[in-house]
Amino acid sequence: VTVRSSLIDPDGGALVDLVSPTESRAALRSETEALPRVRLAPVDVEWTHVLAEGWASPLRGFMREHEYLQCLHFNCIRLPDGAGIVNMSLPIVLSIGDREKEEIGDKPDVALQGPDGGILAILRRVEIYPHNKEERIARTWGTTAPGLPYVDETITSAGNWLIGGDLEVLEPIKYNDGLDHYRLSPKQLRKEFDKRGADAVFAFQLRNPVHNGHALLMNDTRRRLLEMGYKNPILLLHPLGGFTKADDVPLPIRMEQHSKVLEDGVLDPQTTIVSIFPSPMHYAGPTEVQWHAKARINAGANFYIVGRDPAGMGHPTEKRDLYNPDHGKKVLSMAPGLEKLNILPFKVFDARKPPSAFNELKHGAISSKIKSYLLQVAAYDTVAKKMAFFDPSRSKDFLFISGTKMRAFAKSGENPPDGFMCPGGWKVLVDYYNSLQTE
Ligand code: ADX
Repeated sequence: VTVRSSLIDPDGGALVDLVSPTESRAALRSETEALPRVRLAPVDVEWTHVLAEGWASPLRGFMREHEYLQCLHFNCIRLPDGAGIVNMSLPIVLSIGDREKEEIGDKPDVALQGPDGGILAILRRVEIYPHNKEERIARTWGTTAPGLPYVDETITSAGNWLIGGDLEVLEPIKYNDGLDHYRLSPKQLRKEFDKRGADAVFAFQLRNPVHNGHALLMNDTRRRLLEMGYKNPILLLHPLGGFTKADDVPLPIRMEQHSKVLEDGVLDPQTTIVSIFPSPMHYAGPTEVQWHAKARINAGANFYIVGRDPAGMGHPTEKRDLYNPDHGKKVLSMAPGLEKLNILPFKVFDARKPPSAFNELKHGAISSKIKSYLLQVAAYDTVAKKMAFFDPSRSKDFLFISGTKMRAFAKSGENPPDGFMCPGGWKVLVDYYNSLQTE
């Protein structure tokens, strides 16, 4: 009996799954012995993982040049036979050096070798094309300023060629860090949403600890979905698990913190799924947030929460945000290929301003797009002593607690204001920063 799923269709119609079936693994493994090898960096393994599980559906491997060019220039890729476009804003590419290019010559297939030497995958019918790093960086980030974390870590020292092809992965990618059980694939997530009978799935991408402001956004979204007539909206709390910059809180600490947030009842475990999104982080702001949203469509989410400055960071050399903090949500609202995703504004506005955008979207009329992004910033209300939506009419009552400020509190052992974060979650961070200081 096949269970009919009411979840949103993946991009391109069918979810890509590039992990080879168990029975063909031995044959593939022996085939790799004769193949030229490409050594993967840790971030390449993360992308292999992303591709393997279909987060980038309908992409079936590292980008060939025609895909790379569409991605760089249009943030989109055309489907075959004029079947439309899908969003694809970040280049998912694999670089090689001159020597590897030489070794591969005109052989069609190569074996991809993990950082510890094990063979992870075969890349078939490969195409090799020049890696113009400056152009890639400028088009992806909109700047070539020195100090972009992903660039410094993975592009600057990369080879001068890119190699694309169809990926065949030998086994599911594992990290053996005690967190693999959190790494549900889009297929597994869809199954879980169906099992729970979700009639709406709303995703929250994050790379920082959950404070009560984030929780406010998520709980408010759920309340509004219920108001719209949904009976069982499920939250996908979806921390990013791949490469992050050095001063971000490491994944294991964040997972512990997220657990506390559920334990302390800030988020409801009954209606929340916590899972790890295996992608690395570019910090490419409005360009990257499209990728974050697109990948969640493939995992079955039809609602996406976006707040202030998604995927953004401070400018690496100047004292300002790298991107306009409002552009992420504006770009998402207009992004080609993301029309089927509903982007939810955070706040139900006060009684004097009825939520007109929401009246449009009644249960059953889900295909009618909401194109209203009434961003509200969550901030600490010093009068109510809790995280609340910023009220510009009494702006002096509000305190903005940035990630930097939060880190400063935790490092100095000073407590943040009451109601900023649940005590269990806060303790995880204090312990983490203390452990850094004693190292
Ligand atoms: S991100 O790189 O994953 O976007 P982060 O973990 O800081 O960074 O943010 C997760 C989500 O919460 C994003 O949608 C972001 O816009 C939103 N967000 C974070 N802080 C705030 C805030 N103070 N007010 C509104 N939205 C916020």
